[in-house]
Amino acid sequence: MIKERYDDKYFDSMWDHKVVDYDHNQFPWYNRILSVVQEVKPSCKSLGILHESFDRNEIVPLRKKVEQFVRTKEFSGWVDDYLHHIIRDSMSDYMIQSTPTLNFVLPDQQKHGSLLTFHTGHLTAYNNGMNTIWTPVSSAYSTNSMQVVSWEDSKKLTNDFVDQKLSMAEMQRRCTELSYPVEIRPGHAWLFNQGHWHGNVNNTTGVTRIGLDIRAMSKGTDYGYRKPGSYFRFPGDTVEVPKVDTDRRWIVFNDPAGDYIGTMPFYIARSFIENYADQLGIKPVGWHNEYTMTDWNPHLEFFMNETEVQGIALLSMHGLSSPINRRMELFESCVDKDIHILFCDENFLLDSREGLSYIKKCLEFSSQ
Ligand SMILES: [Fe+2]
Repeated sequence: MIKERYDDKYFDSMWDHKVVDYDHNQFPWYNRILSVVQEVKPSCKSLGILHESFDRNEIVPLRKKVEQFVRTKEFSGWVDDYLHHIIRDSMSDYMIQSTPTLNFVLPDQQKHGSLLTFHTGHLTAYNNGMNTIWTPVSSAYSTNSMQVVSWEDSKKLTNDFVDQKLSMAEMQRRCTELSYPVEIRPGHAWLFNQGHWHGNVNNTTGVTRIGLDIRAMSKGTDYGYRKPGSYFRFPGDTVEVPKVDTDRRWIVFNDPAGDYIGTMPFYIARSFIENYADQLGIKPVGWHNEYTMTDWNPHLEFFMNETEVQGIALLSMHGLSSPINRRMELFESCVDKDIHILFCDENFLLDSREGLSYIKKCLEFSSQ
């Protein structure tokens, strides 16, 4: 299955291991990221020496703080403009990674357990049709940079990896031999697709490097785990936690019947919904599960039609066992009855007819 993803029909020279220029004055990523870092530690004067201001166990909280910033309306707008600046007309209809990834590569990161080992996008749940723009926030060079393997070598490496069930230590060795560091400065970005092996080696430069990954997904992509409305957003949108009416009579409803959560124990999915609802101040009056071996959501429909529930918290708009048309019919009847539906994974509250078209757009993004 992994090998099939290297079919030539997926090859696109625009995303083949390629450097492009961008206007650094228009997109000053370094200053923007440094300003958030300095909110936490004003004494940190430069991203390159960030490791002198932060202990290793402070990096994960720092990443989370920066991730909050990259999800804001302001930052999402910059990302929209940046993607358009780089992609131009090469992808006509696409979605954008909702939370761009910030990678912090500190010196000597391997022994500290934070080495990003070589991998392909295919191995990290990205499919063809998703492309990555990798932008070093500060200069990337030598061992603090990312290393990339060519498409042809990547094909061979994947064959050997799968056929011989190679260890990651062996892959790290082989990829290091076949790759070289991407040496670029702010004003340059690196484009690659999901088949290229890429990763890091131990950073022996003594300088911290931060990289910004942003992915774009074209319409029609078989997106798997990386879902529209969740991992990906439409240009112009922002993924924000919605405000809900906590005075309503809410229930938590989990649908384990489709293939969305597989055979994961019910309570794990339910806990996620409950925690999310709790953060929004919802005090549910109960929880229910859809009946297994059904695909028309009869139990969910019962609570919509035969009770006086005013709000239903669901895991995801993608996580129901009924087909899209049936789901839309149920959601539409909720709007008619003024029942609010909260979709936790998508941070989305359905409380109006406009919301229906947004849901349909997300659910149908994979159709050509
Ligand atoms: Fe990656």
